[in-house]
Amino acid sequence: MKTHAHIVGWGKYVPGRVLTNDDLARMVDTSDEWIRTRTGIRERHVAGDGETTASTAIQAARQALEVAGLRPAQLDLIVVATVTPDYLFPAAACMVQDGLGATHAAAFDLSAGCSGFVYALGIAAHLVCAGVYRTVLVIGAETLSRITDWTDRDTCVLFGDGAGAVVLQAGEDEGGVLATALGADGSGGDLLRLPAGGSRNQASHQTVAEGLHFIQMKGREVFRFAVRTMPAATQQVLEMAGLSLADLNLLIPHQANQRIIEAAARALGLSPEVVYSNVERYGNTSAASIPIALTEAVEEGRIQPGDLVVCVGFGAGLTWGAAAIRWTRPQPAPAPRWRRFLRGLRYNLAAFRSWLLRLWRRLTVIWTRDDGSGVPVRDGSRRSQG
Ligand code: ACO
Repeated sequence: MKTHAHIVGWGKYVPGRVLTNDDLARMVDTSDEWIRTRTGIRERHVAGDGETTASTAIQAARQALEVAGLRPAQLDLIVVATVTPDYLFPAAACMVQDGLGATHAAAFDLSAGCSGFVYALGIAAHLVCAGVYRTVLVIGAETLSRITDWTDRDTCVLFGDGAGAVVLQAGEDEGGVLATALGADGSGGDLLRLPAGGSRNQASHQTVAEGLHFIQMKGREVFRFAVRTMPAATQQVLEMAGLSLADLNLLIPHQANQRIIEAAARALGLSPEVVYSNVERYGNTSAASIPIALTEAVEEGRIQPGDLVVCVGFGAGLTWGAAAIRWTRPQPAPAPRWRRFLRGLRYNLAAFRSWLLRLWRRLTVIWTRDDGSGVPVRDGSRRSQG
């Protein structure tokens, strides 16, 4: 019997700190009116001290597992789509694996700009359908505020921080992720990039002085690319699934700019009720925007079991991606307090386990020494041999 990849859990997290357009107007030469009319954004959430991409991803993941009614130990794989990982390495996904206590999961990051979540969802769904993994956590998480030049009005008004997550699980019932269409055009890489910090322009005093660790974007060209790509990718994925626009219940586009969303909807001939938007409250959260929107759409009752949903994104690379999903799960009732308490306890245990593992590694270094063969030897065992 054919295996399908169903979305069985969903969750989101945004930092508590809110930055309004008026706040930005006090920082750079802009206005609430300009930002609202050109982008549709009113406010965005910004990570506080100590908050990182991995920490926001963990919060979203916890909610997704809660909805799915699964334990972290049941996860086989964790994929984090992000362009703002905590470090170049280790992967943010490994930090999520540790933070959740997902003791049986492999973990890796995926970089495909704002299309990252759709890319990750597509790859995870194929792995599930092929029988490689049974349960996969797919996260889109960003702290773009850390790579934003807060003196550049062209970009700083656009971005926000947050994370969204889904749990994919193998099932024999029809539905779930029906098809994904992914694409890239690297010739447009310079339209949207972080110029320094990688192997081409390694970090130096000069790159920092020149502000090359901040997002650079050619906004108008990205705009044109987005308006062209999103309708085409939507049509393509529907065709791949053997469906048409008439079957569509909700389009969840990448939340970059309300004008882009409306232009894509117009090109597809879709009415506004069929197109989800929350860009007003979060700005562009890159790889996190689609899973945050998906989670809110389910929580608001805009997605019901049986509905056909298409998620479509575009972003740095240049990349684009669309996923057609037949929704199969209702939003569950909130878990009773005692169960949430027990789940909270599980995450404290995960933190304790992580601490013990680190301690054990340190003790192992103290107890063993290298005898030159590359194989650590216990002091005691060497003495008894001698
Ligand atoms: N406040 C006031 N004026 C501004 C601001 C601002 N924040 N920013 C730009 N302006 C000015 C410009 O300087 C320009 O002035 P000029 O005419 O005197 O030169 C004028 O406003 C118009 O600028 P445009 O760039 O033409 O404005 P546009 O209508 O194209 O909107 C925007 C700019 C919002 C950036 C738009 O092009 C856009 O949304 N592009 C797509 C961005 C995007 O989606 N990025 C995705 C990132 S995906 C990822 O992977 C991270």
